[in-house]
Amino acid sequence: MSEPKENVLMEKIVSLCKRRGFVFQSSEIYGGINGFWDYGQLGAELKRNVKDAWWKTIVHHRDDVAGLEATIIMHPKIWEASGHVATFADPMSTCKHCKKLVRFDQVWEMIPENAWAQAIAEICPDGLVESPALLAWAKGKGKHLAPNLALVRNPEVTLSFLAARVDAPDATRLTTKELYQYLATEQVGATGLQTPCPHCGGELTAPRPFNLMFKSHYGPVESDDNVCYLRPETAQAIFAQFKNVHETARQKVPFGIGQMGKAFRNEVTPRNFIFRSREFEQMELEFFIKPDEAVEALAGSVAKASDNAWQGEPQADWGWEVWHKYWVEQRIRFYEGIGLTRDRFEEYWQKPEELAHYARACVDILYKFPFGTQELEGIAARGDFDLSQHEKHSGKPMGVFDEELRAAWGKLDEAKKASMRAKFVLGKTAAFLKKGADETEAAQQAEAEATVYFDKLAKGQYIPHVIEPSAGVDRLILALLADAYSELTTTDEKGKTETRVVMKFHPRIAPVKVGIFPLLKNKPELVAKAKEVRDLLRPHMTVFYDDGGAIGRRYARQDEAGTPFGLTIDFDTLGEKPELLDTVTLRDRDTQQQTRVAIKDLAGLLLPKVR
Ligand code: GAP
Repeated sequence: MSEPKENVLMEKIVSLCKRRGFVFQSSEIYGGINGFWDYGQLGAELKRNVKDAWWKTIVHHRDDVAGLEATIIMHPKIWEASGHVATFADPMSTCKHCKKLVRFDQVWEMIPENAWAQAIAEICPDGLVESPALLAWAKGKGKHLAPNLALVRNPEVTLSFLAARVDAPDATRLTTKELYQYLATEQVGATGLQTPCPHCGGELTAPRPFNLMFKSHYGPVESDDNVCYLRPETAQAIFAQFKNVHETARQKVPFGIGQMGKAFRNEVTPRNFIFRSREFEQMELEFFIKPDEAVEALAGSVAKASDNAWQGEPQADWGWEVWHKYWVEQRIRFYEGIGLTRDRFEEYWQKPEELAHYARACVDILYKFPFGTQELEGIAARGDFDLSQHEKHSGKPMGVFDEELRAAWGKLDEAKKASMRAKFVLGKTAAFLKKGADETEAAQQAEAEATVYFDKLAKGQYIPHVIEPSAGVDRLILALLADAYSELTTTDEKGKTETRVVMKFHPRIAPVKVGIFPLLKNKPELVAKAKEVRDLLRPHMTVFYDDGGAIGRRYARQDEAGTPFGLTIDFDTLGEKPELLDTVTLRDRDTQQQTRVAIKDLAGLLLPKVR
């Protein structure tokens, strides 16, 4: 079985998704709407199975996580408290020529995907400038491919600046990026090097922040008093409902709240199929933990992440670092459990300078998508930022009281308290400096916070810290589609070869678990028996009954849908060979091996594989 080349793979996946009903363009009959996708009959089942697997793993199979299902539209102050109103923005530029909007930080990712840039890269391999060929291209094909590129609009002038650069006595070799910039710039001296519009090569405006939240109004009057937003993440509802869940679920920290559901972001450039869309789904867990100082007071010390403690069961001496690593490992194990192998992932640990000022660490779980290695899930250690913000903005206390902590704190010796305080002040000072405070201010603010914080700890009170594993459903669907896609080439007795698609989904997430096929549809006894088998299995798993066409065609159709098992009801099932009475042929999609199984054993055999 051969694996198709990666850049072609995306096109094949998109085409299969439409052909078989995994994913359709939203509102297709009206020309579609950019950044919105619908899931068809197979896609809806696949998505449901993925979400079920997450919910079972994160919520049902743990004692320390509760579920939540909150509204999409919430009080607008939630988004002020979270920082989304002020800062949830991407840099956006407009092309002065074709008027298209582009996300400025993605321009250099998009340029090589366009035919004009590919043509230039071919003319000038490795940055070696071929001016006559560029001139000919600009006066020919370039007019269609990149009509607004400076090279096309004014070739001689543009090339003269490029020549000055490459012919300079001390010239270094051009990078491809620099080459595109020169070809996009008519007057380097006047404007500096320009970044071309990925679509037409034209000039881009300076980037400006564009808030990604979809805005609306609640109630009949459209005024500033009733502005609301479609949630851009599911997480904030968890923070807003933290106290309610904590009290009613009778959970003690450490514990988590999981939520999945729709999120909306008015992405400047939705792209790569369902990878980046404007309406999507998230599966998010906020796992609340004690601050390290409380752990130290209670357990005597805080476990070190370097001791690999995170690979085992949670312990009382785990601080944020070990919990963070634990969740990274748990999430990768989840992906393995639904068929994605560990070697398809990379972990990107954000550098200190990339972290938000409140974050202690953040790891992006990257997946090798057909178009590149990109984020599938983010797992952040966010300190107590979120609950503190909601406490500040709502005026409602978000802390918890822990009697054991109060008692343990009373027994702590003064040297230990002083060393914890010194460490806390150091960390807070660094955070204030990062936010822009000067050294004196930072030190004073850190001391003031330390006083309030340690007074509360002594009384057994603290605001829980949080570890946030946040995954995208649609990105995971795309990863699963790409991972499952394979092609099988077969040759028949007449020497005719045929290549067809086999979607090798893990049985747990496959949209249909079992195909059920009577050998012939014009034999009522076979049909009746096949329907009996269908009705036997249907309460336990999704089945698809198919009596149309040759049996090989029916197998092929289910292989393409990713159905892991096929059952054929034939004359032996009816007792033509008495020893095979009430048995069926069970076909395995991946090995194509067929075995004979008694009908009464089917549910017991298949259920553990598909659940
Ligand atoms: N609460 C944290 C949060 O929302 P994020 O990194 O912005 O963090 C988490 O989003 C995940 O949601 C991403 O890793 C990705 O899988 C998914 N996601 C984000 N934006 C998306 C989009 N426009 N389309 C599809 N999935 C998206």
